[in-house]
Amino acid sequence: MRIVSPDARSPSAHGAPAVLAEISAGLLAPSAAVSPKFFYDSLGSRLFEAICELPEYYPTRTEAAIFARHGSDIARAVGTGCTLIDLGAGNCAKAAALFPLLRPAQYVPVDISRDFLADAVRGLQQRFPEIGMLALGMDFSQGCTLPDGVRHAQRLFFYPGSSIGNFGPDEAQRFLRGLRDSAGEQGGLLIGVDLVKDTALLDAAYDDALGVTAAFNLNLLNHLNHLAGADFDVRHWLHRAFFNEQASRIEMHLEARHALTVRWQGGERHFGAGERIHTEYSYKYTRAGFIALLERAGFEAARIWTDPDGWFAVIHARVAAAHP
Ligand code: AVI
Repeated sequence: MRIVSPDARSPSAHGAPAVLAEISAGLLAPSAAVSPKFFYDSLGSRLFEAICELPEYYPTRTEAAIFARHGSDIARAVGTGCTLIDLGAGNCAKAAALFPLLRPAQYVPVDISRDFLADAVRGLQQRFPEIGMLALGMDFSQGCTLPDGVRHAQRLFFYPGSSIGNFGPDEAQRFLRGLRDSAGEQGGLLIGVDLVKDTALLDAAYDDALGVTAAFNLNLLNHLNHLAGADFDVRHWLHRAFFNEQASRIEMHLEARHALTVRWQGGERHFGAGERIHTEYSYKYTRAGFIALLERAGFEAARIWTDPDGWFAVIHARVAAAHP
């Protein structure tokens, strides 16, 4: 097993000038915004794991139920012996559950949280010594250039959990195109996609009664303190999350409880009471809408598996034979 960090832009490179510049530009924008990738320091990754166990957060268990029910069918569509590239692998549990069915020749987990990933892959390699593993600690949100050492044969990008929803529609198309290009002609994609549903269910999933999602959102400020030498005080900020029906997306923001000034390395900003920092979008798709997006990105022959309520979809698609 090897662990490499090919990407110097990773926020785990503490104090990296590019990271500071990105955070600073976001905080100084007319409508302040910070990329959701900054949720995932090691506490943030653990808080996200806790979110996935909440009763209100249906995506994780619904997707798992789809894999449990349709796993054999999915494996038949995908085939065995692939190079399984797991984007945003986290604790690697979702991919590991598929190993007995897919029997990958190589497993390539990719995650921005390098240390969290390293711990997970060490344990996994002991459980599955027959699978070659190459862990990549990097930010793949701007594109996924794979280093030497990743097999070219039968590349299958695995992108579960509806993380694709955290890109805007244009970004999502660019991102999927990038995957198609890296996958090669025999490549494919196995992706989890959250579907449009009742607004109350969606609101509750992102604003749970225990306040775990609030802690996840607020922890981003602590991470910014670490990365940018900022002086955010989480007690002065509120978690806001709601479904924007027109745009078909959950929006998450942090809202100043009162007027305050935040300082960081090389910058500062005054926030009025109620002013917000946008932290995340989570787009929800219709089945037809997502298939159209895949086709625009150069994939074809999509197959879809859903739960009985039609809340979530697992989709397999192949790189299109002739693409623009
Ligand atoms: C990682 N991603 C798919 C989650 C989502 O549902 O958009 C992140 C999340 N944000 C709040 N809760 C979960």
